[in-house]
Amino acid sequence: MLLFCHALVGAFLPFFVLSGNWVSAKNINFYNVRPPVDPTPFPNSFKCFTCDNAVDNYNCNRWAEDRWCPESTQYCLTVHLFTDHGKSTSVTKKCATGEECHFVGCHHHRESGHTECVSCCEGMICNVEIPTNHTNAVFAVLHARRTSDGSRWTVNIAVLVSVVMIALS
Ligand SMILES: *[C@@H]1O[C@H](CO)[C@@H](O)[C@H](O)[C@H]1NC(C)=O
Repeated sequence: MLLFCHALVGAFLPFFVLSGNWVSAKNINFYNVRPPVDPTPFPNSFKCFTCDNAVDNYNCNRWAEDRWCPESTQYCLTVHLFTDHGKSTSVTKKCATGEECHFVGCHHHRESGHTECVSCCEGMICNVEIPTNHTNAVFAVLHARRTSDGSRWTVNIAVLVSVVMIALS
């Protein structure tokens, strides 16, 4: 099963059913890719668009494998190689550890005339886009997860207490 299939089913099945026409798959909105309903293998499990040396971002996302990331990883990493004219020559996406994500940023290779940008992100299928400059070749983490479990517990208990109080009053 491919992530692409989820996108296709989610985005185009209604049209297909209603009109009976096959809709061109050229304009897939990869943001519509929904996590499947199969059970998560472990807490906080996630998926990344995963491809090895695709010709561009479209072809990477389109044929990306639908597989859970290993428990040892926490992030999605993207490596984008492109020419001086901004044309992609290679896109690689995978699940990654925090250590691998230390190498985010862009580097220009003068000999080949290519630039390589690396980005990392946190969250379910977060690596839709490819990094193209120093603004987006960054390590983007979810700030909500930065708060400790302790403070989240406090908030939850506070909410619970106020709900009980309202119920009793
Ligand atoms: C970086 O790339 C993004 C997307 O291509 C673009 O919107 C943005 O303006 C670029 N930023 C710089 C500083 O070039």
